[in-house]
Amino acid sequence: MKAHMDRPYVIINAAMSVDGKISSVGNDSRLSSKHDLVRVHRLRSMVDAVMVGINTVLIDNPMLNVRYVEGREGSNPSRVVVDSHARISPTSKIMSTCKSIPTIIAVSEHADQARVERLRGMGATVIVVGRDRVDLRMLLKWLRGMGIGKVLVEGGGELNWSLLKEGLVDELMVTVVPVVLGGRDAKTLVEGEGFLRVEEGRRLMLIDVNRMHGNGEVILHYKVLNSNI
Ligand SMILES: NC(=O)c1ccc[n+]([C@@H]2O[C@H](COP(=O)([O-])OP(=O)(O)OC[C@H]3O[C@@H](n4cnc5c(N)ncnc54)[C@H](OP(=O)(O)O)[C@@H]3O)[C@@H](O)[C@H]2O)c1
Repeated sequence: MKAHMDRPYVIINAAMSVDGKISSVGNDSRLSSKHDLVRVHRLRSMVDAVMVGINTVLIDNPMLNVRYVEGREGSNPSRVVVDSHARISPTSKIMSTCKSIPTIIAVSEHADQARVERLRGMGATVIVVGRDRVDLRMLLKWLRGMGIGKVLVEGGGELNWSLLKEGLVDELMVTVVPVVLGGRDAKTLVEGEGFLRVEEGRRLMLIDVNRMHGNGEVILHYKVLNSNI
């Protein structure tokens, strides 16, 4: 688990239903058990940064700190929000705590300057990477330059797609929750435009399988084989 020369080591973690959804059509994403949340918080405590897409922030309003790990509460990684147009709300949990937990908002050149200044004034680090949209390769390079060696990506599907498509992911951890949610508009683990053919898909190598405390959850742990190393 070593950082690369030009970018941090990147792990995607998500909880999904057996039919591949990471949230219901009603935007309910509370899929995994308390046991799994503890595992995710332990994972957070072992990385330098946690990254999410702006839709996840707008819908879930997460805090992205370390809470459920005894002895490690407060060992918070930096939070990185991928937000081309600086849409994050100043009243979100992330912005409300950005003075105590390092917070990086990655925006594009199209972000409204007044919004950017407001976020900076509240204590967030706002970086401009990309013209119309956040350039993820540029963002990861910048994070590496800031000494960030390991990043945990916690969704959502659009961000997962962009990172996987660009070959910027090293590991994928998926908790498969024994429930079927259905819904053609419910978000899946990986969204985006998708690969046309199976042979273009990102190949994975299964490195571990764990059953969670008899509650039916299965944690699949993969190495992403064709990342740009
Ligand atoms: N079950 C789980 O483990 C889990 C985890 C996380 C999220 N979720 C669920 O996932 C849903 C949100 O997922 P989502 O797919 O809609 O959105 P997302 O991945 O959270 O955010 C996508 C947004 O990020 C911004 N972005 C900027 N640059 C980007 C780039 N290069 N590539 C991709 N995105 C970029 C775009 O908005 P701008 O153009 O405005 O910047 C884009 O629409 C929520 O319902 C949430 O509850 C579930």
